Amino acid sequence: MQLIDTLSALRQARPKWPGSVGFVPTMGALHEGHASLVRASVAENETTIVSIFVNPTQFGPNEDFGKYPRTLERDMELVKSLGANVVFAPASDAIYPKHTRIHFQIEQLDDVLCGASRPGHMNGVLQIVSILFNLVQPDKAYFGLKDYQQQLIIRRLVEELHFPLQIVPCPIVRESDGLAMSSRNRYLSPEERRQALALSHTLTELKALRGTWKSAQAARSHAIDMLSQQPGIVLDYMEVLDGRDLSPLTEISDSHHPIAFVAAFLGKTRLIDNMPLWEYPPVLPTSAS
Ligand code: PAF
Repeated sequence: MQLIDTLSALRQARPKWPGSVGFVPTMGALHEGHASLVRASVAENETTIVSIFVNPTQFGPNEDFGKYPRTLERDMELVKSLGANVVFAPASDAIYPKHTRIHFQIEQLDDVLCGASRPGHMNGVLQIVSILFNLVQPDKAYFGLKDYQQQLIIRRLVEELHFPLQIVPCPIVRESDGLAMSSRNRYLSPEERRQALALSHTLTELKALRGTWKSAQAARSHAIDMLSQQPGIVLDYMEVLDGRDLSPLTEISDSHHPIAFVAAFLGKTRLIDNMPLWEYPPVLPTSAS
């Protein structure tokens, strides 16, 4: 496996890669969720490249950019063991040599959930993924559905700007007790780790009761009630939205692709999770226009 850390080395290497190129963009601190993306890419492509870059533009001023775990050596060992061919780990000033003046605004898809709670976050994600797509020129790029809003917005970017690649959404990977895997789980104290289970438990209960909700609002209120009784949880948002375009829902029915979304703080750590409240099809619907 090759480590590439400059743009010029990437540009030189890219034309030599045989066959279809699968791309897994990451910020490192890799876990089993990332591993599942790499496995999917290795299974479907001749060449798999994993980028490891903690992207400064997607963090707010009071967020965890400074303390985000940086574990390049361990990440490289994992990626190698999974059969990927290249790790691209550029320096920040190579990616952003100048103050970036190009900003993305994403009508409607960015006004809710993490887009609303973390102003500028989705813009930063779109800045880095468009730079990486241009540099790597992949045929397919793999994104986890834990960041559901992120993958929806990226699919929209690719569609509207005609990037010649396919976005492959991959299922959420959970710990055996249900906690969605996240690089930020390592910030949790043992007590916070236990308390964090309330997120997946609440979503699982909403799903189990999905036939009984008279309205999306009733499901949401039930979840908020459940979470407000849990010690250690400070709720950021709890929403039940249309999974195709994140529009509000009145009723819950399969035709509206309802998905329950939650974000909460455990101490200083912000975690997100989501769960479809409908029978999830093997192929995701394309985003509504
Ligand atoms: O999901 C992530 O890890 C990041 O948002 C991404 C897509 C790698 C962009 O920095």
